[in-house]
Amino acid sequence: MTNIEADLQKNPQFDWSASECELGIDRSGIINIGWLCSDRPCQMGKAAKTALLWEDHQGVEKVFTYNDIRILSNNIAAYLEGLGLKPGERICLFMDRVPELYIGFLGILKLGAVAQPLFSAFGEESLFTRLDNAQTSAIITQRKHALKVRKIRDQLPNLRYIIIVDAGEGALKEREIAMDMEKLPKADDYKVYPTKAETSSVLHYTSGTTGQPKGAQHVHYSIVSQYITAKWVLDLKDDDIYWCNADPGWVTGTSYGIIGPWVNGVTQAVLDSGFNAERWYKFIEKYKITVWYSAPTAIRLLMREGKETVQKFNLSSLRHLCSVGEPLNAEAVHWSKETFGRPFHDTFWQTETGCIVITNHPALPVKPGSMGKPFPGIEAAVLNPQTFEPVNQTGIAGLIALKPGWPSMVRSYWNNPTGYQNKFKNGWYLCGDRASIDIDGYYWFMGRDDDVINTGGHLVGPFEIESALLEHPAVAESAAVAKPDPINMEVVKAFVVLKPGYAPSDDMELDIMNLIRKRLSPLAMPQEIEFIDALPKTRSGKIVRRILRAKEFNEPLGDMSTVMND
Ligand code: WT7
Repeated sequence: MTNIEADLQKNPQFDWSASECELGIDRSGIINIGWLCSDRPCQMGKAAKTALLWEDHQGVEKVFTYNDIRILSNNIAAYLEGLGLKPGERICLFMDRVPELYIGFLGILKLGAVAQPLFSAFGEESLFTRLDNAQTSAIITQRKHALKVRKIRDQLPNLRYIIIVDAGEGALKEREIAMDMEKLPKADDYKVYPTKAETSSVLHYTSGTTGQPKGAQHVHYSIVSQYITAKWVLDLKDDDIYWCNADPGWVTGTSYGIIGPWVNGVTQAVLDSGFNAERWYKFIEKYKITVWYSAPTAIRLLMREGKETVQKFNLSSLRHLCSVGEPLNAEAVHWSKETFGRPFHDTFWQTETGCIVITNHPALPVKPGSMGKPFPGIEAAVLNPQTFEPVNQTGIAGLIALKPGWPSMVRSYWNNPTGYQNKFKNGWYLCGDRASIDIDGYYWFMGRDDDVINTGGHLVGPFEIESALLEHPAVAESAAVAKPDPINMEVVKAFVVLKPGYAPSDDMELDIMNLIRKRLSPLAMPQEIEFIDALPKTRSGKIVRRILRAKEFNEPLGDMSTVMND
């Protein structure tokens, strides 16, 4: 029987407070994610149980028990405190998927500081924007990424410490210090900071249509949602070996790549390596992964790889599969049933929701192509885009909206109260996506409601790309839009207007692409650049990306009344 069925049988009335009870916490008392994910499992008799099975791309393995992660995260918290870092300060984690990232995350939270994880493939400009915005006090990184930090640190007066986890004998620059996690002074009985439900915990940056990325601020109370959704949707059980292949630079990698499994006392496996079908299958076979949380892009890559590759491995340990980040095509569900003997279960959510909100949970029959129904305790609706009232009619598309109040809802955007307020209309939180609801209450995803580009489950904002494009000496103006792509669903395409005296060429195109890849990230790099004479604009001068996008997707242009004719 699945966890959700067993629990609902005992107690059919859903209430978040039942989860608080299971976690032994109280909304008005002390709640600390770092403690709940490491000390508590130890207190529950799991001290010697494996918490983390780690392997890198060269096959180097490390194993950590719950007691190991408890002590090591204590040591890190004490070390950071010893440096003078205080509760509430932002401490950035800027690393590949090394153990220090996962355990450091708990350490930062035990100190009462705010963990700010950033994707290690970010270039110096993406990094700068987010460290500058959050007024980050310290960054924990690896030698290979420290070079990017060095380029920008002089423009970051708040950044007091650059902590390098693998410095070895390497030479350190000013403000840089070495922290060898395995050799830190012991702080076995570290006194975890008494954070409360509403104390800030994790700060994740997410992209919007306008302006620079927004810092979605979460609080320690979020763990209530992450605990129960991991238990019910991922169906995590005591003897599971769980694998979430998302990077903790994104919310999936923290909510369900750190907090969800560990607060449930489950063993999780981490592979510090990019996509490679054979390596992934081998990883599942070797560690006998039972529950796997993946994404449509990865599934499409595996599908492309074909049957021969899958057949080389014994993947019979897999018992439950979930997916997030983009619409999960019906083909992918059918393929996974055929290949693994079980369907992928879709889960819909966002950086801002902090937890899965609409899903094919394991007790719900899967309708391939639909993302399922709202999770118990989540009130969702599809709103009419003009009135912001629920459409209350099956099959009619509208805006996906949620009633505020679930535990892991984003509490603010860092330094951006207006951006935060704009997410709410008529008492609803708007996700920025469109869907319709069928007669059985299942949600069918239609697309985003804005110009944000979803490339392989990662959101990229046009503004950040367009700002970086302007740094190229030949670029006068530009617009970044989504272009359909068979593997990544969407990729970035840039329309560029050149300054007088510059002519389009293949070299110019490559040069511009490289600039974005280096300064922002490989995700943000335009896969195609089209040079044009002028951008479509409204009479008030705003770029109408919708028109450029519609061309790429072969969609109707919609209302053109405010667009200038040129
Ligand atoms: C956006 C949120 C939190 C997960 C990782 C992404 C899209 C997410 C689905 C899904 C269709 C999905 C939406 C959403 N998205 N899951 N199951 N089906 N679209 O977090 O970076 O905040 O992106 O990803 O557009 O708004 P994120």
